[in-house]
Amino acid sequence: MRNLILSEILQEYDELRTREREALRQRENHVTETIPEIAVLRRTIIELMARRSLEIIKNPNLSGQTIDELEKKINELKERERDLLIQHGLPPDYLSMHYRCPQCEDTGYRGDIIKEKCSCLIQKLVERTYQLSDIKELDRENFDTFDPEVFPDAPIEGSKLTQREYMIQLKNRLMDYAKKFPDNRRKTILFSGKTGLGKTFLLNCMAKTILNMGYTVMRISAYKLFNQLFLSALQDNEENQFLFNCLFEVDALIIDDLGTETQRNNFTSEDLFNILNERFTQEKHTFLSTNLGLAELKDRYSDRIASRLFDTSNTILIKFVGQDIRLRARN
Ligand SMILES: Nc1ncnc2c1ncn2[C@@H]1O[C@H](COP(=O)(O)OP(=O)(O)O)[C@@H](O)[C@H]1O
Ligand SMILES: [Mg+2]
Repeated sequence: MRNLILSEILQEYDELRTREREALRQRENHVTETIPEIAVLRRTIIELMARRSLEIIKNPNLSGQTIDELEKKINELKERERDLLIQHGLPPDYLSMHYRCPQCEDTGYRGDIIKEKCSCLIQKLVERTYQLSDIKELDRENFDTFDPEVFPDAPIEGSKLTQREYMIQLKNRLMDYAKKFPDNRRKTILFSGKTGLGKTFLLNCMAKTILNMGYTVMRISAYKLFNQLFLSALQDNEENQFLFNCLFEVDALIIDDLGTETQRNNFTSEDLFNILNERFTQEKHTFLSTNLGLAELKDRYSDRIASRLFDTSNTILIKFVGQDIRLRARN
């Protein structure tokens, strides 16, 4: 999916540059037709630039009086060209390429030798993925807005830590994990615990960080996912095909609230197994949350799913414990 979205965006960059080149050509034509002095100037500049290139080839260490002189002359003429443009009521950059992003010159990549994704490209990837990931809360729920104060500073059963300390440790661990993405040894994370313990919030934190690193993320509730899948079994249309592609192709798939979906015989189990298994085989990341306990999960889904999900060589199991912070807020 990431490649699909990426190549689509790069294609748009391509088209943008083509359009800009064409617009520049028309501006050049307009100027050479209407301001003959600039036309002469531009021909001279081009000649001088060609001579400079020749000199550089003859004299690759870039020293030498001729090159310096040519350089100086070119700059003077360009200066003169800009003045003339202004005199004729045109903007000084009228005869330059107009880039939306001067940093990557609308190629999406920066750097001469080592190419890096430009932030404008990352932004586009993020926006595209937001669309398909149904994530709107990410500006409110991310590692920067994580507030330890919402968790009670009271000890939790079976631990030396308070709920707040536990959540701070968990946050730090997940931040490390997200920073290392996608080079994590274990690619599946399962959050298990009752409602109101901050599971969805932390899933959103992960989503935001990974998106901002330029990867694709799809976040969907189990309820919505399995409804969609159920419908797609009834009708095979393009939209459903896209859903399937996303489920298998996104860099990180986040399924929230596993266990809240409508149960339809073995249907959910089969689909869930296929998704988990395919992503496991492709070494892709899947993050899930559930309100069910592990035993309940085992009961509800097939043994095959349980063994996939609870295989600790690939899954990090994280238990959420303590008091429901939603109830706490109301007190
Ligand atoms: N670390 C946090 N900082 C600020 N608010 C939080 C934090 N964790 C959870 N919340 C808020 O508390 C409420 C419950 O959290 P949520 O993540 O939905 O719990 P769960 O998914 O476990 O039911 C939400 O309104 C959420 O925005
Ligand atoms: Mg939740």
